[in-house]
Amino acid sequence: MMSSTFGHLGSAFIDVLNLGKLKFWGLFKNWNFQSCNGIIVIGSLLFFVAAISSGYFYILPTFQPVIINHVNSTSGEVDVHVSNVHVKNSSTNLGSECNMFDGRWVKDESYPLYNASQCPFIERGFNCLANGRRDKGYLKWRWQPQKCEIPRFDVNLMLELLRGKRVVFVGDSLGRTQWESMVCMLMTGIKDKKSVYEVNGSKITKRIRHLEVRFSSFNLRVEFYRSVFLVQPGPVPKQSPKRVKTALRLDRLDDISKEWIDSDVLIFNTGHWWTPSKLFDMGWHFQVGGKMKLGMSVAGAFKTALATWKSWVESKINATKTHVLFRTFESTHWSSAPRQRCKVTKEPMSKLNGSDRHPFSDVIIDIAKNLSIPVTVLHVTPMAAFRSDAHLGTWSDNPSVPDCSHWCLPGVPDAWNEMLFSYMLSHQHTQRI
Ligand SMILES: *[C@@H]1O[C@H](CO)[C@@H](O)[C@H](O)[C@H]1NC(C)=O
Ligand SMILES: *[C@@H]1O[C@H](CO)[C@@H](O)[C@H](O)[C@H]1NC(C)=O
Ligand SMILES: *[C@@H]1O[C@H](CO)[C@@H](O)[C@H](O)[C@H]1NC(C)=O
Ligand SMILES: *[C@@H]1O[C@H](CO)[C@@H](O)[C@H](O)[C@H]1NC(C)=O
Ligand SMILES: *[C@@H]1O[C@H](CO)[C@@H](O)[C@H](O)[C@H]1NC(C)=O
Ligand SMILES: *[C@@H]1O[C@H](CO)[C@@H](O)[C@H](O)[C@H]1NC(C)=O
Ligand SMILES: *[C@@H]1O[C@H](CO)[C@@H](O)[C@H](O)[C@H]1NC(C)=O
Repeated sequence: MMSSTFGHLGSAFIDVLNLGKLKFWGLFKNWNFQSCNGIIVIGSLLFFVAAISSGYFYILPTFQPVIINHVNSTSGEVDVHVSNVHVKNSSTNLGSECNMFDGRWVKDESYPLYNASQCPFIERGFNCLANGRRDKGYLKWRWQPQKCEIPRFDVNLMLELLRGKRVVFVGDSLGRTQWESMVCMLMTGIKDKKSVYEVNGSKITKRIRHLEVRFSSFNLRVEFYRSVFLVQPGPVPKQSPKRVKTALRLDRLDDISKEWIDSDVLIFNTGHWWTPSKLFDMGWHFQVGGKMKLGMSVAGAFKTALATWKSWVESKINATKTHVLFRTFESTHWSSAPRQRCKVTKEPMSKLNGSDRHPFSDVIIDIAKNLSIPVTVLHVTPMAAFRSDAHLGTWSDNPSVPDCSHWCLPGVPDAWNEMLFSYMLSHQHTQRI
């Protein structure tokens, strides 16, 4: 019933009445990229893209859908009403200036959203409580944007929106974490846990290339492809210096990329492997146009790879079908010199030391601005920067090597998914999510 209602939605603005409190959120009202400080949403919910002769023009919709969401606090049941309401002056809505990524973490006792020990798709290495973490304050934070609300995660609504869809995550272990988080968030809405399974019964490991979890009662697939650089490694050309063991072909997207094309939601990330120690020290060097580029910097190579990604998206992705997202660099909390040390705090940081920006994030934002099809940037760099309390530390599967890069689950990646879901909500009017 709900899905048929969604089929009639004509447009773009979503108001959520949640837990009896009226919340308005208009995500992309501010489409002046300069002033909105990093939130880049091209072809967003407020604008229909119309191709007119040489270019694209944005046209304001006249009808705005309203989703009213009554939660029965006794039964926990969710009753969803959707209707079209003609809003004459949307600038009166709160959140009209909303940048979802500009905000703060607030305490919220209703978190976390799931219990990692009850979800078979959380790998042991990310389940900090199971690995001995005692303090639990880190589980109780919610991301609060400055000028709008992220709608509370509503599992029944999300499962309905995702019915029959294919959601694909591509990237490194941070992408895998977000994939695990999404599967576990969605599983809280499934009574028969056995109806959710990895297609080949594969175990989650650090090196596994592809995982696919099926939600059989919703005909939903949530997949992860490991592709840490997004571009393709290959054999070394003849006459290369001995130290070159692998050529990373910056001008060619990963060979498995053909498997990503036919998806409904496609979420990329890359960044943590683009370091001299993970590349040059291991004998990996860059190649462009059949030639080794031994002098090329990591930063330059990252830009070249992202340009390759851009051309791939523009030539291969059908924007009517597939909603493409790119998550920016997730801040780490290693304290510097003389040696990198990792000290997980009990509370989030109250102030940032400039770590809310990262050069890789800037590259991603710039590339996304210049794409000919709509791409949503999940700019998680600032929000993650506060969370020095939320890393694995020594509560991982390898306690002898502290970890201030990866995150405990439940935790920060759940917030990335809450943002992702709010984008899906705002996109469902176009029938793609
Ligand atoms: C809420 O759910 C309870 C238990 O199912 C039911 O008795 C009650 O009538 C519901 N309240 C509303 C307002 O629907
Ligand atoms: C819309 O609302 C804004 C803010 O309340 C107000 O300044 C503006 O005049 C209104 N525009 C129209 C056309 O009513
Ligand atoms: C999570 O589930 C486990 C196993 O069912 C249980 O022992 C534990 O108390 C639960 N933790 C929380 C915080 O509810
Ligand atoms: C599952 O196995 C089939 C047959 O070997 C293979 O084609 C498919 O790619 C596998 N899927 C995953 C997610 O590993
Ligand atoms: C793009 O996807 C839409 C929706 O699935 C479909 O109707 C359309 O034919 C596709 N376009 C191309 C060029 O494949
Ligand atoms: C932030 O700055 C403070 C004081 O300068 C320092 O103690 C702390 O380690 C820094 N944190 C990070 C993550 O760099
Ligand atoms: C944007 O794309 C156009 C055409 O592909 C290119 O000429 C221009 O240099 C690009 N700008 C940036 C900032 O990448």
